[in-house]
Amino acid sequence: MIPDRENLAAQAAALVSGQQDMIANAANLSSLLFYALDTVNWVGFYFLKGRELIVGPFQGRPACVSIPVGKGVCGTAAETRKVLRVADVQAFEGHIACDVASRSEIVLPLVRDGELIGVLDLDSPVKNRFDEEDERLLKKIVDIFISSLA
Ligand code: SME
Repeated sequence: MIPDRENLAAQAAALVSGQQDMIANAANLSSLLFYALDTVNWVGFYFLKGRELIVGPFQGRPACVSIPVGKGVCGTAAETRKVLRVADVQAFEGHIACDVASRSEIVLPLVRDGELIGVLDLDSPVKNRFDEEDERLLKKIVDIFISSLA
């Protein structure tokens, strides 16, 4: 459950307003989400470099530095360019455990001008934490991020 969704999207838009730098905006958006959402233990960005996703700005415990496209939840979302909501990461074949506390996960692809540039990843220690409404809100945040870029 997310309190005050409208307000969160508005805060995200305000945070990136007038700034086109990808790292700056990813840093502030990951912090906004991490502190605004309940029961999340990791929120952050991976950016595509060649055939690997390389960790970018995030909040949470140190994470896997690189994930091949097609591997894990992040790499699968990147390959398919589809939002992936995993209710129980222990039941996801190939899940990459960065924090053993994580039980559910949502990954959203970042597509800019038809090109994949990375993913936004959120983890929760609670099973089945992310619902369709969370997905809708996070898609809005991704759109705000993509639109902010130079
Ligand atoms: N669990 C992810 C790896 C990234 S961490 O959760 C931060 C995956 O399976 O791709």
